[in-house]
Amino acid sequence: MLKSGRVVLALAIVAAAGLGGWRIDVRAQQSAPVFSASPDPHAAPRPLMVDPEQARADYVENCAGCHGLHGSTVPAKLPELAGRVGWFMCTPEARAYLIRLPNVANSRITDNAQLADMMNYVIFELGKGSVKPGTPPFTAEEVAYERKFALSDRSLSDERLRLAKQVVQRCHAPDSIKLLYPGETAK
Ligand code: HEC
Repeated sequence: MLKSGRVVLALAIVAAAGLGGWRIDVRAQQSAPVFSASPDPHAAPRPLMVDPEQARADYVENCAGCHGLHGSTVPAKLPELAGRVGWFMCTPEARAYLIRLPNVANSRITDNAQLADMMNYVIFELGKGSVKPGTPPFTAEEVAYERKFALSDRSLSDERLRLAKQVVQRCHAPDSIKLLYPGETAK
């Protein structure tokens, strides 16, 4: 009994060390624990994107057909990304949601570093003005972890609303974040 307890502890330590200074945050647990957004304070700052050209090209090819070249398709029934999507980076759960979106988690971009770059383009470029200063960009490790918990299309809008309320409450995001775009009406 004692022995297996030690083995579990050792495994936990190895797992934590393997994440290179990142911790899994089990406080804000919905279905699966989310990857912690708090970076190692001793780690060197990392660039937002390794290859910004590729990140933009990946967005244009995979996402712009629905979300528009500049992240806006108003009045289509789609969430406005431009100047807004960064609000979801401000709580661990909402941050996880961005990678667990079916179109992102199940993306045909299998390389996690490349997908992290593309999402950093979406958040920090398209979402400019809505990201809190000092927000750590996505890493390949975080993307690899979160994409295993893809949301289903069915649970998506409820989950979005729950998290939108959360970022309004905790981060003072504008109330209109609960809508897909500011000024959206019921019909
Ligand atoms: C077929 C159309 C389509 C494609 C392609 C698509 N999306 Fe979406 N996306 C949507 C819809 C619809 C929603 C709203 C989901 C919901 O809450 O019902 C959404 C939600 C989002 C959100 C959440 C924004 C918010 O305010 O909740 C982000 C971020 C996002 N998509 C990014 C992407 C990225 C990045 C890609 C490319 C890999 C992509 N999407 C591809 C249709 C699409």
